[in-house]
Amino acid sequence: MNVILMGLPGAGKGTQAERIVKEFGIPHISTGDMFRAAVKDETPLGLEAKSYMDKGLLVPDEVVIGIVRERLGKDDCNKGFLLDGFPRTVPQAEALTATLEELGKKLDHVINIQVARDVLIQRLTGRWICPVCGTSYHTLFNPPKEPGVCDKDGGKLFQRDDDKLEVVTQRLDVNIAQTQPLIDYYAGQGLLRNIDGERDIPVVFAEVSSLLRG
Ligand code: AP5
Ligand code: ZN
Repeated sequence: MNVILMGLPGAGKGTQAERIVKEFGIPHISTGDMFRAAVKDETPLGLEAKSYMDKGLLVPDEVVIGIVRERLGKDDCNKGFLLDGFPRTVPQAEALTATLEELGKKLDHVINIQVARDVLIQRLTGRWICPVCGTSYHTLFNPPKEPGVCDKDGGKLFQRDDDKLEVVTQRLDVNIAQTQPLIDYYAGQGLLRNIDGERDIPVVFAEVSSLLRG
């Protein structure tokens, strides 16, 4: 099963992706996670990506396309994949179409999680993440059992640099500007499924999994 998970920053892509990969056993390919890992390791890719991410801007298409193309060629993607946060522009979507053709694969589902801008701001500024396992929590909507501590492994939760309010509004504006053409691209291919992402996490997941099974 080859799936794209779309949605603005904070829509719940990472939250749903964690559940989808567990349920369906496909690899999770998050371009944001790949860039954050490169930033942490201080690789040339990480240094380049950081200059964009810290400002809430998109990393240039050719950089993102290169890393996704390489990742999709790996053996574990033969059983399927879940793309999270890619594509984010029409040139990225066109490059993905070409890559999948080369690899003899096709998309099965494009899921777009829809959430209003004011809700997204609340979600991003209240998000806390575990450095050990990557689980996202929210101080109000999805709190850990003990404040500041991961339920799964006791990791000390931290906030992402780009979740500061000034960067959050810029990220949202940049992504909103790219979204409609991308939605049109996949709607035109008959693949797009919109999901109301403002409901509780398990309710959203129930609808996502039933779409993926259907
Ligand atoms: P990336 O890491 O992909 O960030 P993003 O798109 O901004 O998305 P987020 O990870 O912030 O949000 P999410 O939708 O995963 O929400 P989450 O589940 O955590 O990208 C980071 C940067 O990398 C970009 O800004 C860009 O610079 C670069 N980049 C990445 N991909 C790129 C590309 N293709 N092209 C160019 N540049 C690229 O949920 C958010 C919060 O809400 C959490 O606290 C969670 O607990 C809570 N929550 C989730 N669901 C619900 C719910 N249903 N109800 C209540 N609370 C909820
Ligand atoms: Zn953890």
